Amino acid sequence: MSDIRSVALGCGSYLPERVVTNAQLSNIVATSDEWIVERTGIRERRIAADGEMTSDLALAAARRALEHAGVKADDIDLIILATTTPDRTFPATATRVQAMLGLKTGAAFDVQAVCSGFVYALAVADGMIRSGQARTVLVIGAETFSRILDWSDRTTSVLFGDGAGAVVLRADKTNGAGNGKTRGILSTHLHSDGTHADLLYVDGGPSSTGTVGRVRMHGREVFRHAVINLAQVVDEALAANGLSRSDIDWLVPHQANKRILDSTARKLGLPESRVVVTVERHANTSAASIPLALDEAVRDGRIRQGNLLLMEAMGGGFTWGASLIRW
Ligand code: ACO
Repeated sequence: MSDIRSVALGCGSYLPERVVTNAQLSNIVATSDEWIVERTGIRERRIAADGEMTSDLALAAARRALEHAGVKADDIDLIILATTTPDRTFPATATRVQAMLGLKTGAAFDVQAVCSGFVYALAVADGMIRSGQARTVLVIGAETFSRILDWSDRTTSVLFGDGAGAVVLRADKTNGAGNGKTRGILSTHLHSDGTHADLLYVDGGPSSTGTVGRVRMHGREVFRHAVINLAQVVDEALAANGLSRSDIDWLVPHQANKRILDSTARKLGLPESRVVVTVERHANTSAASIPLALDEAVRDGRIRQGNLLLMEAMGGGFTWGASLIRW
Protein backbone atom coordinates (compact mmCIF):
# COMPACT_ATOMS: atom_id res chain seq x y z
CA MET A 1 0.00 0.00 0.00
CA SER A 2 1.03 3.59 -0.60
CA ASP A 3 2.90 5.27 2.25
CA ILE A 4 1.01 8.50 1.57
CA ARG A 5 -1.47 9.50 4.25
CA SER A 6 -4.40 11.94 4.04
CA VAL A 7 -3.81 14.27 6.96
CA ALA A 8 -6.51 16.70 8.11
CA LEU A 9 -5.11 20.23 8.18
CA GLY A 10 -8.27 21.96 9.38
CA CYS A 11 -12.03 22.09 9.40
CA GLY A 12 -14.89 24.55 9.26
CA SER A 13 -18.66 24.66 9.36
CA TYR A 14 -21.63 26.90 8.78
CA LEU A 15 -25.21 26.94 10.03
CA PRO A 16 -27.99 29.11 8.60
CA GLU A 17 -29.14 31.84 10.99
CA ARG A 18 -32.79 30.87 11.31
CA VAL A 19 -33.52 28.63 14.31
CA VAL A 20 -36.74 26.61 14.31
CA THR A 21 -37.68 25.09 17.66
CA ASN A 22 -39.85 22.06 18.30
CA ALA A 23 -42.50 24.38 19.72
CA GLN A 24 -42.57 26.29 16.44
CA LEU A 25 -42.99 23.03 14.51
CA SER A 26 -45.93 22.09 16.72
CA ASN A 27 -47.74 25.03 15.10
CA ILE A 28 -47.33 23.40 11.69
CA VAL A 29 -47.83 19.66 12.36
CA ALA A 30 -49.44 17.63 15.16
CA THR A 31 -46.37 17.15 17.31
CA SER A 32 -44.90 18.35 20.59
CA ASP A 33 -41.54 19.30 22.03
CA GLU A 34 -41.92 16.43 24.49
CA TRP A 35 -42.48 13.79 21.76
CA ILE A 36 -39.56 14.99 19.62
CA VAL A 37 -37.10 15.28 22.52
CA GLU A 38 -38.05 11.89 23.97
CA ARG A 39 -37.81 9.99 20.66
CA THR A 40 -34.88 11.84 19.05
CA GLY A 41 -33.11 14.23 21.42
CA ILE A 42 -33.74 17.05 18.93
CA ARG A 43 -34.72 20.45 20.39
CA GLU A 44 -34.15 22.78 17.45
CA ARG A 45 -32.72 22.92 13.93
CA ARG A 46 -31.44 25.56 11.49
CA ILE A 47 -33.33 26.23 8.28
CA ALA A 48 -31.76 27.97 5.27
CA ALA A 49 -33.18 31.37 4.29
CA ASP A 50 -35.12 31.82 1.07
CA GLY A 51 -32.59 31.91 -1.73
CA GLU A 52 -29.83 30.45 0.44
CA MET A 53 -28.63 27.36 -1.39
CA THR A 54 -26.54 24.32 -0.57
CA SER A 55 -23.59 25.93 -2.39
CA ASP A 56 -23.85 29.03 -0.15
CA LEU A 57 -23.69 26.89 2.98
CA ALA A 58 -20.87 24.81 1.49
CA LEU A 59 -18.86 27.88 0.52
CA ALA A 60 -19.10 29.39 4.00
CA ALA A 61 -17.94 26.12 5.60
CA ALA A 62 -15.17 25.71 3.00
CA ARG A 63 -13.82 29.22 3.59
CA ARG A 64 -13.69 28.61 7.34
CA ALA A 65 -11.95 25.27 6.82
CA LEU A 66 -9.35 26.82 4.50
CA GLU A 67 -8.65 29.57 7.01
CA HIS A 68 -8.39 27.07 9.87
CA ALA A 69 -6.04 24.91 7.80
CA GLY A 70 -3.92 27.87 6.72
CA VAL A 71 -4.40 26.82 3.10
CA LYS A 72 -5.09 29.16 0.18
CA ALA A 73 -7.96 28.27 -2.12
CA ASP A 74 -5.43 28.12 -5.00
CA ASP A 75 -3.78 25.12 -3.35
CA ILE A 76 -6.94 22.99 -3.64
CA ASP A 77 -6.74 20.51 -6.50
CA LEU A 78 -9.88 18.52 -5.71
CA ILE A 79 -13.27 19.39 -4.21
CA ILE A 80 -15.62 16.57 -3.23
CA LEU A 81 -19.01 17.69 -2.00
CA ALA A 82 -21.39 15.23 -0.37
CA THR A 83 -24.99 16.28 -0.77
CA THR A 84 -28.48 14.96 -1.40
CA THR A 85 -29.82 18.45 -1.99
CA PRO A 86 -27.77 19.94 -4.85
CA ASP A 87 -28.56 23.45 -6.07
CA ARG A 88 -29.52 21.97 -9.43
CA THR A 89 -29.80 18.47 -10.86
CA PHE A 90 -26.61 19.42 -12.70
CA PRO A 91 -23.95 20.76 -12.72
CA ALA A 92 -22.53 19.30 -9.53
CA THR A 93 -22.74 21.73 -6.61
CA ALA A 94 -19.01 21.11 -6.07
CA THR A 95 -18.27 22.87 -9.36
CA ARG A 96 -20.31 25.87 -8.22
CA VAL A 97 -18.30 26.01 -4.99
CA GLN A 98 -15.13 25.71 -7.07
CA ALA A 99 -16.18 28.74 -9.11
CA MET A 100 -17.20 30.69 -5.99
CA LEU A 101 -13.72 30.05 -4.58
CA GLY A 102 -12.28 31.54 -7.76
CA LEU A 103 -10.77 28.26 -8.97
CA LYS A 104 -10.54 27.08 -12.55
CA THR A 105 -8.12 24.21 -12.13
CA GLY A 106 -8.28 20.81 -10.46
CA ALA A 107 -11.44 18.71 -10.29
CA ALA A 108 -14.75 19.01 -8.46
CA PHE A 109 -17.66 16.60 -8.17
CA ASP A 110 -20.52 15.60 -5.89
CA VAL A 111 -21.01 12.36 -3.99
CA GLN A 112 -24.52 11.15 -3.22
CA ALA A 113 -24.87 8.73 -0.31
CA VAL A 114 -27.43 10.71 1.72
CA CYS A 115 -26.55 10.69 5.45
CA SER A 116 -23.41 8.60 4.79
CA GLY A 117 -22.24 11.09 2.18
CA PHE A 118 -19.44 12.60 4.22
CA VAL A 119 -17.92 9.21 5.04
CA TYR A 120 -18.19 8.23 1.36
CA ALA A 121 -16.57 11.51 0.29
CA LEU A 122 -13.73 10.98 2.77
CA ALA A 123 -13.13 7.51 1.34
CA VAL A 124 -12.97 8.84 -2.23
CA ALA A 125 -10.69 11.71 -1.19
CA ASP A 126 -8.38 9.36 0.71
CA GLY A 127 -8.21 6.96 -2.23
CA MET A 128 -7.32 9.75 -4.65
CA ILE A 129 -4.71 11.18 -2.29
CA ARG A 130 -3.10 7.79 -1.66
CA SER A 131 -2.99 7.01 -5.38
CA GLY A 132 -1.31 10.34 -6.11
CA GLN A 133 -4.24 11.81 -8.07
CA ALA A 134 -4.78 14.69 -5.66
CA ARG A 135 -2.68 16.53 -3.08
CA THR A 136 -4.86 19.04 -1.26
CA VAL A 137 -8.53 18.17 -1.06
CA LEU A 138 -11.56 20.02 0.22
CA VAL A 139 -14.15 17.52 1.46
CA ILE A 140 -17.51 19.14 2.14
CA GLY A 141 -20.83 17.86 3.46
CA ALA A 142 -23.63 20.36 2.77
CA GLU A 143 -27.40 20.08 2.77
CA THR A 144 -30.57 22.11 2.55
CA PHE A 145 -32.65 19.10 3.57
CA SER A 146 -35.53 21.38 4.51
CA ARG A 147 -36.21 21.73 0.76
CA ILE A 148 -37.09 18.04 0.34
CA LEU A 149 -39.25 17.68 3.45
CA ASP A 150 -43.00 17.28 3.37
CA TRP A 151 -43.90 19.90 5.98
CA SER A 152 -47.27 18.27 6.52
CA ASP A 153 -45.68 14.92 7.51
CA ARG A 154 -44.86 14.89 11.22
CA THR A 155 -42.98 11.59 10.93
CA THR A 156 -40.17 13.18 8.88
CA SER A 157 -40.37 16.99 9.05
CA VAL A 158 -39.31 17.18 12.70
CA LEU A 159 -36.11 15.22 12.19
CA PHE A 160 -33.95 17.24 9.79
CA GLY A 161 -32.08 20.53 9.50
CA ASP A 162 -29.76 22.45 7.17
CA GLY A 163 -26.02 23.09 7.46
CA ALA A 164 -22.55 22.43 6.10
CA GLY A 165 -19.12 21.30 7.27
CA ALA A 166 -15.78 20.87 5.55
CA VAL A 167 -12.34 19.39 6.07
CA VAL A 168 -9.08 20.12 4.26
CA LEU A 169 -6.95 17.03 3.64
CA ARG A 170 -3.38 16.99 2.40
CA ALA A 171 -1.14 14.22 1.16
CA ASP A 172 1.61 13.61 3.68
CA LYS A 173 4.50 11.21 3.35
CA THR A 174 6.33 12.13 6.52
CA ASN A 175 3.77 10.34 8.67
CA GLY A 176 3.99 7.09 6.75
CA ALA A 177 5.81 5.09 9.41
CA GLY A 178 2.72 2.96 10.03
CA ASN A 179 3.27 2.62 13.79
CA GLY A 180 -0.38 3.25 14.63
CA LYS A 181 0.29 6.74 15.94
CA THR A 182 0.67 8.42 12.58
CA ARG A 183 -1.76 11.21 11.80
CA GLY A 184 -4.31 11.02 9.03
CA ILE A 185 -7.08 8.76 7.78
CA LEU A 186 -6.26 5.21 8.90
CA SER A 187 -9.03 3.56 6.87
CA THR A 188 -12.58 3.99 5.66
CA HIS A 189 -15.14 1.20 5.31
CA LEU A 190 -18.17 1.60 3.05
CA HIS A 191 -21.28 -0.53 2.60
CA SER A 192 -24.60 -0.34 0.83
CA ASP A 193 -27.66 -2.52 0.40
CA GLY A 194 -30.09 -1.24 -2.20
CA THR A 195 -32.78 -3.78 -1.34
CA HIS A 196 -34.05 -1.52 1.45
CA ALA A 197 -34.62 1.52 -0.75
CA ASP A 198 -38.34 1.58 0.09
CA LEU A 199 -37.65 2.23 3.77
CA LEU A 200 -36.08 5.64 3.19
CA TYR A 201 -36.29 7.55 -0.08
CA VAL A 202 -37.45 10.65 -1.90
CA ASP A 203 -40.57 10.12 -4.03
CA GLY A 204 -39.34 12.13 -7.00
CA GLY A 205 -36.39 12.68 -9.30
CA PRO A 206 -35.50 13.82 -12.81
CA SER A 207 -35.75 10.37 -14.38
CA SER A 208 -38.85 9.09 -12.58
CA THR A 209 -41.40 11.82 -11.87
CA GLY A 210 -39.62 14.88 -13.19
CA THR A 211 -40.18 16.48 -9.81
CA VAL A 212 -37.90 17.04 -6.83
CA GLY A 213 -39.98 14.86 -4.51
CA ARG A 214 -40.21 14.65 -0.73
CA VAL A 215 -38.63 12.40 1.92
CA ARG A 216 -40.56 9.23 2.83
CA MET A 217 -39.46 6.97 5.64
CA HIS A 218 -40.39 3.96 7.74
CA GLY A 219 -38.67 5.33 10.84
CA ARG A 220 -38.87 2.27 13.02
CA GLU A 221 -37.32 -0.01 10.38
CA VAL A 222 -34.60 2.53 9.59
CA PHE A 223 -33.80 2.73 13.28
CA ARG A 224 -33.46 -1.05 13.54
CA HIS A 225 -31.12 -1.32 10.55
CA ALA A 226 -29.06 1.67 11.68
CA VAL A 227 -28.28 0.19 15.08
CA ILE A 228 -27.23 -3.18 13.60
CA ASN A 229 -25.24 -1.84 10.64
CA LEU A 230 -23.38 0.79 12.63
CA ALA A 231 -22.34 -1.68 15.32
CA GLN A 232 -20.91 -3.96 12.62
CA VAL A 233 -19.03 -1.32 10.67
CA VAL A 234 -17.36 0.28 13.69
CA ASP A 235 -16.02 -3.13 14.73
CA GLU A 236 -14.85 -3.71 11.16
CA ALA A 237 -12.94 -0.41 11.19
CA LEU A 238 -11.24 -1.20 14.52
CA ALA A 239 -10.33 -4.75 13.48
CA ALA A 240 -8.84 -3.55 10.17
CA ASN A 241 -6.40 -1.39 12.13
CA GLY A 242 -5.67 -3.79 14.98
CA LEU A 243 -7.23 -1.29 17.39
CA SER A 244 -9.59 -1.87 20.27
CA ARG A 245 -12.59 0.09 21.50
CA SER A 246 -10.55 1.63 24.30
CA ASP A 247 -8.19 3.23 21.75
CA ILE A 248 -10.93 5.60 20.54
CA ASP A 249 -10.64 9.11 21.93
CA TRP A 250 -13.76 10.52 20.26
CA LEU A 251 -16.80 9.10 18.54
CA VAL A 252 -17.96 11.67 15.96
CA PRO A 253 -21.13 10.05 14.68
CA HIS A 254 -23.71 11.04 12.13
CA GLN A 255 -26.34 12.92 14.12
CA ALA A 256 -29.63 11.25 13.24
CA ASN A 257 -31.13 10.50 16.58
CA LYS A 258 -29.77 10.58 20.13
CA ARG A 259 -30.99 7.04 20.73
CA ILE A 260 -28.98 5.72 17.76
CA LEU A 261 -25.87 7.57 18.99
CA ASP A 262 -26.32 6.21 22.49
CA SER A 263 -26.69 2.68 21.17
CA THR A 264 -23.40 2.83 19.21
CA ALA A 265 -21.58 4.46 22.13
CA ARG A 266 -22.89 1.81 24.51
CA LYS A 267 -21.72 -1.00 22.24
CA LEU A 268 -18.29 0.62 22.07
CA GLY A 269 -18.23 1.04 25.85
CA LEU A 270 -17.67 4.78 25.40
CA PRO A 271 -18.97 7.19 28.06
CA GLU A 272 -21.15 10.09 26.86
CA SER A 273 -18.24 12.42 27.55
CA ARG A 274 -16.37 10.83 24.61
CA VAL A 275 -19.17 11.28 22.09
CA VAL A 276 -19.63 14.52 20.14
CA VAL A 277 -23.36 15.23 20.17
CA THR A 278 -24.96 18.12 18.29
CA VAL A 279 -28.27 16.53 17.32
CA GLU A 280 -30.20 18.50 19.96
CA ARG A 281 -29.30 21.81 18.22
CA HIS A 282 -28.70 20.75 14.59
CA ALA A 283 -31.16 17.84 14.14
CA ASN A 284 -30.20 15.52 11.28
CA THR A 285 -28.29 17.54 8.67
CA SER A 286 -27.56 14.43 6.57
CA ALA A 287 -24.11 14.62 4.92
CA ALA A 288 -23.27 17.76 6.89
CA SER A 289 -23.74 16.34 10.36
CA ILE A 290 -20.34 14.72 10.91
CA PRO A 291 -18.20 17.67 9.76
CA LEU A 292 -20.46 20.04 11.73
CA ALA A 293 -19.95 17.98 14.90
CA LEU A 294 -16.24 17.59 14.19
CA ASP A 295 -15.73 21.32 13.72
CA GLU A 296 -17.53 22.14 16.94
CA ALA A 297 -15.41 19.74 18.99
CA VAL A 298 -12.15 20.80 17.34
CA ARG A 299 -12.83 24.49 17.90
CA ASP A 300 -13.93 24.14 21.53
CA GLY A 301 -10.75 22.19 22.24
CA ARG A 302 -12.24 18.77 22.97
CA ILE A 303 -10.60 17.16 19.94
CA ARG A 304 -6.84 17.66 19.91
CA GLN A 305 -4.08 16.78 17.51
CA GLY A 306 -3.17 13.11 17.84
CA ASN A 307 -6.64 12.04 19.06
CA LEU A 308 -8.13 8.94 17.44
CA LEU A 309 -11.56 9.74 15.97
CA LEU A 310 -14.16 7.25 14.87
CA MET A 311 -16.73 8.60 12.43
CA GLU A 312 -19.75 6.55 11.39
CA ALA A 313 -22.94 7.09 9.45
CA MET A 314 -25.92 5.32 7.97
CA GLY A 315 -28.41 6.71 5.50
CA GLY A 316 -30.76 6.16 2.60
CA GLY A 317 -29.84 3.46 0.15
CA PHE A 318 -29.13 1.98 2.62
CA THR A 319 -25.59 3.22 2.73
CA TRP A 320 -23.36 3.10 5.77
CA GLY A 321 -19.72 3.40 6.68
CA ALA A 322 -17.06 4.28 9.21
CA SER A 323 -13.70 5.97 9.18
CA LEU A 324 -10.87 6.05 11.68
CA ILE A 325 -8.80 9.22 11.65
CA ARG A 326 -5.93 10.29 13.83
CA TRP A 327 -6.50 14.04 14.00
N1 ACO B 1 -45.01 13.86 16.83
C1 ACO B 1 -45.93 13.16 17.49
N2 ACO B 1 -46.23 11.88 17.18
C2 ACO B 1 -45.58 11.32 16.16
C3 ACO B 1 -44.61 12.03 15.41
C4 ACO B 1 -44.35 13.35 15.79
N3 ACO B 1 -43.42 14.10 15.15
N4 ACO B 1 -44.12 11.21 14.45
C5 ACO B 1 -44.74 10.05 14.58
N5 ACO B 1 -45.63 10.10 15.60
C6 ACO B 1 -46.53 9.06 16.09
C7 ACO B 1 -46.83 8.03 15.03
O1 ACO B 1 -47.86 8.47 14.17
C8 ACO B 1 -47.22 6.85 15.88
O2 ACO B 1 -48.55 7.03 16.29
P1 ACO B 1 -49.57 5.78 16.34
O3 ACO B 1 -48.99 4.85 17.36
O4 ACO B 1 -50.83 6.43 16.77
O5 ACO B 1 -49.58 5.23 14.95
C9 ACO B 1 -46.33 6.98 17.11
O6 ACO B 1 -45.89 8.33 17.12
C10 ACO B 1 -45.14 6.04 17.09
O7 ACO B 1 -44.52 6.11 15.81
P2 ACO B 1 -43.20 5.30 15.49
O8 ACO B 1 -42.77 5.65 14.10
O9 ACO B 1 -43.39 3.87 15.82
O10 ACO B 1 -42.21 5.96 16.56
P3 ACO B 1 -40.73 5.59 16.91
O11 ACO B 1 -40.60 5.35 18.34
O12 ACO B 1 -40.16 4.57 15.97
O13 ACO B 1 -39.98 6.97 16.61
C11 ACO B 1 -38.60 7.95 14.92
C12 ACO B 1 -39.99 7.53 15.31
C13 ACO B 1 -38.13 9.05 15.84
C14 ACO B 1 -38.64 8.46 13.48
C15 ACO B 1 -37.65 6.74 15.03
O14 ACO B 1 -38.20 5.62 14.41
C16 ACO B 1 -36.31 7.04 14.41
O15 ACO B 1 -35.58 7.87 14.86
N6 ACO B 1 -35.93 6.30 13.36
C17 ACO B 1 -34.70 6.54 12.66
C18 ACO B 1 -35.01 7.41 11.52
C19 ACO B 1 -33.89 8.30 11.14
O16 ACO B 1 -33.07 8.71 11.92
N7 ACO B 1 -33.85 8.63 9.87
C20 ACO B 1 -32.94 9.59 9.37
C21 ACO B 1 -32.27 9.15 8.12
S1 ACO B 1 -31.39 7.67 8.32
C22 ACO B 1 -30.25 8.01 9.43
O17 ACO B 1 -29.78 9.11 9.44
C23 ACO B 1 -29.81 6.96 10.34
